[in-house]
Amino acid sequence: MSSISVEVTDEKSFAGMVADELVASIQDSIDERGECCISFAGGSTPAGVYRLLGRPPRVGEIDWKSVKLFWGDERWVPRADNQSNYHMVHETFLNNVNIPDSNVFIVNTDLANPAAGAKDYSQLIEANVDSQNGCPSFDIMILGIGEDGHTASLFPGGKELKAEEWCTIAKHPESGADRVSLSLPVIRNSKKLFYIVRGEEKSDIVQAVLETERPISELPARVYAEAKGSVVWFLDSAAAKKLSKHAA
Ligand code: 6PG
Repeated sequence: MSSISVEVTDEKSFAGMVADELVASIQDSIDERGECCISFAGGSTPAGVYRLLGRPPRVGEIDWKSVKLFWGDERWVPRADNQSNYHMVHETFLNNVNIPDSNVFIVNTDLANPAAGAKDYSQLIEANVDSQNGCPSFDIMILGIGEDGHTASLFPGGKELKAEEWCTIAKHPESGADRVSLSLPVIRNSKKLFYIVRGEEKSDIVQAVLETERPISELPARVYAEAKGSVVWFLDSAAAKKLSKHAA
């Protein structure tokens, strides 16, 4: 069983604490392997973390030429669209960091359709992320969770949960919007999973995901329970308030 830890901080120090942990873990990967393949989560929670990571003093602590940046999922919209996870990472992080374009691996939403995008991204991952046991193994994968228990764009009951390709397609259950997402096998195979969750609106799902044995088909964020590597949950005290232990 991999190691699973839960770090709870107050709202004010949350983003800084996560950014510091990311700097340390990115540096550990570079020290151990000469590079770090990291996958960023989308959504709104990580924006504050990416902003701190991409600015002094933290930005100067990493040799970004040794970092390969990927996305855990993407909305099937143009890169300039406000809904784009690429756009969010560009505005908060990429436009401040001197990382070579050749190290930034974007889901190509200019292709004909999401299936083509997923296939293309699977091939990029295959070619640029070292494998363990025949499956790509990211050094660090940052994940968020939705109030329904989804993670990346793997939604409760979705057929994407059965995907064996490295990258698959999905539809948001409410909006029907097309998504491209890393699959469960790739998430499971990461060396480190960093879940970043904040806000009282997530407290019920955090309690369900961390303190029940409900199946991954119902709560895809519970994929952490099958992780091959280490798992760290970064929670602010509001998101952690319904946990029976890890008193916030
Ligand atoms: C996305 C995601 C998704 C996100 C959660 C949490 O593209 O939206 O990657 O899995 O991490 O929905 O989103 P918030 O951080 O906005 O609550």
